[in-house]
Amino acid sequence: MTRARAFRAPAGPRFPAAPLAALTFLVLLLVCAAAAPAADAAPTPPREGILLVAFGTSVPEAEASFTAMDAAFRAAWPHSPVVWAYTSQIIRKKLAREGRPVGGIAAGLARLAKDGVQVVRVQSLHIMAGEEFAALARAVLIDIQKHPGRFRAVYLGRPLLESRADAQAVAGSVLRALDGRRSPGDALVLMGHGQEHGRADLVLEGTRAAFQSADPLAFIATVEGARGFEELLAELRARKVRRVWLQPLMLVAGDHARNDLAGEEEDSWASRLRAAGFTVETNLTGLGQVPGIAARFVEHARASRDDLTAEPRKE
Ligand code: CO
Repeated sequence: MTRARAFRAPAGPRFPAAPLAALTFLVLLLVCAAAAPAADAAPTPPREGILLVAFGTSVPEAEASFTAMDAAFRAAWPHSPVVWAYTSQIIRKKLAREGRPVGGIAAGLARLAKDGVQVVRVQSLHIMAGEEFAALARAVLIDIQKHPGRFRAVYLGRPLLESRADAQAVAGSVLRALDGRRSPGDALVLMGHGQEHGRADLVLEGTRAAFQSADPLAFIATVEGARGFEELLAELRARKVRRVWLQPLMLVAGDHARNDLAGEEEDSWASRLRAAGFTVETNLTGLGQVPGIAARFVEHARASRDDLTAEPRKE
């Protein structure tokens, strides 16, 4: 519309006697002038927003991990809103009662839409693609179906342990973080969550292999997975270990770390290892606080090309 008007204006009464060539030149000049701004201006990039999704925690001390993750994502996307979603309803209800509410996935996406976000990067803060991650993907898809066209794209970033390179990087970061505290001959035992069904056990076996090749005295066992405490105990005995460091292989040092791993009760791993004659040290640090881990999640968010609003890409 504006271009047509600019085109016609010079042909009006202001240049009645101009020779044809000069008129054509002028018209071309004006057309170029009118077209130039549109051609030169880079298209405004769509407004991006980040949705960080975690199981959640109600343990205040565990929040240090989330704070570190939040800071890393805000630094990586300084102009984008960063919103959190917790998937655990029990934890969300508890936090709401305590006056510090955190929303779920649908609430987080609604907030980003309200903020004018066009491209969403949903980043899973799960350790691996187990049942929690599958539920997250499903919840995002259902929300997209309920609000078609709300976002131009919704990218889903993969969890922490997706590849051998991830496992090696995580092993390196975790082992380095204990430098200077753990003595030669001390074992490091990481408590993974694991799950009763599914492929999580295989991911843990691969991760365990990465830890073992970086450090033969680094072990992984799980709360709910196939490799449990009894197997761990046998391994520690076979290696003739005396002192054991305990640390969660979870994003936060929350309920499992404080109770099942390091708790005072006699059924905690710490109590059972002490009862079995080991000296036990605890390192109640969530993976989110370990230097290098947040950067790995940021990389996964950047690398995601998996737009959940579109058909899978076939290249
Ligand atoms: Co659990």
